[in-house]
Amino acid sequence: MHTIIEPFKIKSVEPIHFTTREQRIDILQRACYNPFLIHADDVLIDLLTDSGTSAMSSAQWAGIMIGDESYAGSNSFFHFEKTIQDLTGMPIVIPTHQGRAAEKILFSVIGGKGKFVVSNTLFDTTRANIEFSGTEGVDLLCKEGKIPSVPASFKGNMDSVAFENFIKEKGAENISLCIITVTNNSGGGQPVSMRNIKEVKSICETNKIPLFIDACRFAENCYFIKKREEGYANISIPEIAHELFSYADGCTMSAKKDAFANIGGFIALRNEELAIQCRNLLIITEGFTTYGGLAGRDLEAISIGLKEVMEENYLQYRIRSIEYLTEKLIAANVPVMQPAGGHAVYLDAKAMLPHIPADQYPGQALVAALYVEGGVRGVEIGSLMFGKYDENGKLIPAVMELVRLAIPRRVYTQSHIDYVAEVIIEVYKNRDKIKGLKIEYEAPALRHFTVEMREIE
Ligand code: F0G
Repeated sequence: MHTIIEPFKIKSVEPIHFTTREQRIDILQRACYNPFLIHADDVLIDLLTDSGTSAMSSAQWAGIMIGDESYAGSNSFFHFEKTIQDLTGMPIVIPTHQGRAAEKILFSVIGGKGKFVVSNTLFDTTRANIEFSGTEGVDLLCKEGKIPSVPASFKGNMDSVAFENFIKEKGAENISLCIITVTNNSGGGQPVSMRNIKEVKSICETNKIPLFIDACRFAENCYFIKKREEGYANISIPEIAHELFSYADGCTMSAKKDAFANIGGFIALRNEELAIQCRNLLIITEGFTTYGGLAGRDLEAISIGLKEVMEENYLQYRIRSIEYLTEKLIAANVPVMQPAGGHAVYLDAKAMLPHIPADQYPGQALVAALYVEGGVRGVEIGSLMFGKYDENGKLIPAVMELVRLAIPRRVYTQSHIDYVAEVIIEVYKNRDKIKGLKIEYEAPALRHFTVEMREIE
């Protein structure tokens, strides 16, 4: 078997701005140990997110030029609508400017006090939009999904027994929606099996609970189904995707991930009544129903990207490149989420830094160390992002303390990834010297974006 190569050539390049370790120490202190406050120019390899950071193809750039900017009835909208209808089998397509705008609209319509939304794991913006409406968000992830070191094929699965018990306890009438995130971003980019989706669908049907998909990384999830689930090896990715969406009543998607777009999102639905309410809100907040906060050119780029992402050469390279980095780290004993996820490598900061307690944020401390060592920017997915306080102001830590290194699509080459592995391994060797962090300022919601911290001496 030959090396799996990047299935593209590079037509246009962006220079990387190099910094020294001394400069990075200073930059990090000025950014209050918050990677979101570092200027992108001061980052060598930016693994903060795979969202909106993809390299678009020449076909997508060509699509940008033919984008139809008509306010109403734009040709680009009809291309977008048809692409999503073909992909999902859902007749109603509502464009939004990004994923959270789709969530805001959906949960404003179906949310409200005293209700619940259940999920395998809600992404942070999804949870925030649910909770903003007064509804409680509940994660019911399968047991193996919560242990980073235990490999399993579908660690993003929802715990269907816990789901049934939850329905018995709270009453189906109080659960306004079940939403499955594919792949499970906050749980390590781990996939959900078709079997699990079918099982959850059947529980939803019996109890008249609508099932939605958070489809940001649907193609990566479908590739895992093809490779790991019995019966799918010879089925094409578009067919697997079609089956996956066939179990859902609707979906939300951030086109900034698996559509290779720099901006965009949508809601797709089957229910016309729900669509009317969503569209009414859309017009107030996003724009008219045929552009929803996007330019015609964005709609074109997304439509083309949604087709490109299902090409198997691409998905093979994509999933392999994440696996490649994960394997290098495992070989050096670095504790990582296993097996490799679809879009990111997740370092297990709890296992790596046992000398730093949860209330000194080991994940964020590791993020800081990676930046200082090699200018690599990652993001904490642990107690800083998901921790809460009890009534005495004591931190209730997150289940896991992870650091996500999200790989932008089609942006970095194998030598960039080799460099990242070297940086992580160097940090791992010197892990005893890493210090915990203390919060100096925090916002009441989504605090990790604006938090200011300092090192504990
Ligand atoms: N759902 C999931 C699973 C996501 O990963 C994201 C965004 C969203 C919804 C919201 O979409 O950003 O377009 O508003 N995730 C990015 C990330 C921010 O870095 O993982 P958005």
